[in-house]
Amino acid sequence: MSAGAAEGGKATVLAPANIAFIKYWGALDLERVLPTNPSISMTLTRCASRTTVEWRARGEDEVWVRGGGELAPARGAFAAGVRRHLDVLRRATGAAGSFRVATENSFPAAAGMASSASGFAALTLAVVRALGLDLPTEELSSLARQSGSGSAARSVLGGYVEWPRGEGAEQAHAFPLAPAEHWDLRDVIAVVETGPKEVSSRDGHRRAATSPYFATRLALLPDRLAAVRQAIAGRDLEALGPTLEEEAIDLHLIAMSSRPPIFYWSPATVEVLAEVRQLRREGVGAWATMDAGANVHVVCEPAGEEAVAGRLAALPGVTQVLRDGVGPGPILDAEPLF
Ligand code: PMV
Repeated sequence: MSAGAAEGGKATVLAPANIAFIKYWGALDLERVLPTNPSISMTLTRCASRTTVEWRARGEDEVWVRGGGELAPARGAFAAGVRRHLDVLRRATGAAGSFRVATENSFPAAAGMASSASGFAALTLAVVRALGLDLPTEELSSLARQSGSGSAARSVLGGYVEWPRGEGAEQAHAFPLAPAEHWDLRDVIAVVETGPKEVSSRDGHRRAATSPYFATRLALLPDRLAAVRQAIAGRDLEALGPTLEEEAIDLHLIAMSSRPPIFYWSPATVEVLAEVRQLRREGVGAWATMDAGANVHVVCEPAGEEAVAGRLAALPGVTQVLRDGVGPGPILDAEPLF
């Protein structure tokens, strides 16, 4: 593979986050980011990362972030992660030279939302486009996850997406299950915690197999996967909901019973879960899921969105409510950051 554009190529890509109905939790090979189990997610619209990349003949990589105001040099683990991924992409594409990168998240950085999936997807797509390469989606999906964020493999695609269990290289990428327009689902996000999480998802994946319940969940997964695929195909929220909630609870059950244990929930997480159950008793189809954090994603249909958002906003522990929904995936010619 070699770069197809003259140096100086520039591209800006907006890639959305995604929310998993069946979670990636536990890895066959953490270094190669190959999951123990298949996962299924919905790609969002508004919660997204926008990344501009310029490819240059010489010089050092530069990484900039915009957190509301002007671009500022990126620092710490974030900058290191971007630089590592640029090395991965240089190796994979055979490109020489350096990259100037600027990135921002549409959702507030302090909202404690996972931005690694959208961030690595946007970076991968922008670098490949700045290099003038036209790679198949399978390869882009596989490249996006190679610096550690497995869920980035799913953010390269829109709509409903499956990422299979990773045994061979050809299986190490996500594929589409249904386009966004197949089923208009919403994700109302109750933000209850704004700080960085104490234990990274990488450590969570590493510890998952130490939980006595890890094997139990794996045994349940074939039925859950089949149920979720069928519910998506049939646009059946009453079938999807219980499974996606069970999956979220099991992820946290495994985290809490790992050695050493991981507690991602805060008291407000439990408060939101109770409110979602109350909404269902009142006839609103709403189902909750959480990633490796305290914030709660409430999945519902458009008819229920208003009620869900209003009720979550009224809870004392909820600092912010973000409204998102299924979307068509990355925008390849977004507005540049520089
Ligand atoms: O993308 P990673 O490697 O940070 O792992 C993500 C794990 C979860 O968000 C908890 C589940 C998922 O499938 O998105």
